[in-house]
Amino acid sequence: MSQIYYFSLFERFWHWSQAILIFGMLITGFEIHGTYQLLGYEQAINLHTIMAWVLIGLWLLALFWHTTTGEWRQYLPSDADTMLSMVKYYLVGIFLGAPHPFHRKRVEKHNPMQRMAYLILTMVISPIIWLSGILYLFYQYWPLIGMSGTSLGLVAAVHTIGAFAILSFIPIHLYLTLTTSEEPFGYLIEMIVGHERKRG
Ligand code: HEM
Repeated sequence: MSQIYYFSLFERFWHWSQAILIFGMLITGFEIHGTYQLLGYEQAINLHTIMAWVLIGLWLLALFWHTTTGEWRQYLPSDADTMLSMVKYYLVGIFLGAPHPFHRKRVEKHNPMQRMAYLILTMVISPIIWLSGILYLFYQYWPLIGMSGTSLGLVAAVHTIGAFAILSFIPIHLYLTLTTSEEPFGYLIEMIVGHERKRG
């Protein structure tokens, strides 16, 4: 048996701490939004703000790690033909027992659908959330940066749209993670121990 390490210690730390923080942001954020009452409004705001800074720190650390290790290449979109064969596989082939069109390698550890989902998460949804969140947080300084005419309601709406986008990402992420690995719960186990077991 030989082991292929797909996820370094840093990536596993980054993944699980981000997951916990995002759940915390969702729970406190939707309480601030008025969806329910759980911790109390003031407490929810305080916790949301503390976790926001930790999350931003974590994102900056992850950005540094991905650029210095070159691992950002794992998230480049696949070509159109590969994408099409994956879509066909998930729509039809998977139900007919067709062979998986994607063959995983250490330098290409995510399948084309995962690459696309993570790229949208990191390049679109996350920046929307943290830019609108930072603006929201520093509302009292808006006049200093020429934003006194901007509507707070608009920034809050953009932030809430970002929150719904992250919320909808969760079932997609769980579905792709739990259904696309060769071994049952293969990706989940890898994200805990870092490696898969391969016959060598
Ligand atoms: C996964 C990440 C996040 C989620 C799901 C999330 C979600 C939310 C939601 C749903 C609200 C209520 C919006 C409203 O109805 O007005 C909110 C409020 C807020 N969020 Fe976030 N947020 C996230 C990240 C951030 C970040 C990174 C920051 C700042 C750097 C931030 C700062 C704020 C602030 C300042 C408020 C308003 C609190 C107040 O009313 O005083 N959030 N968030």
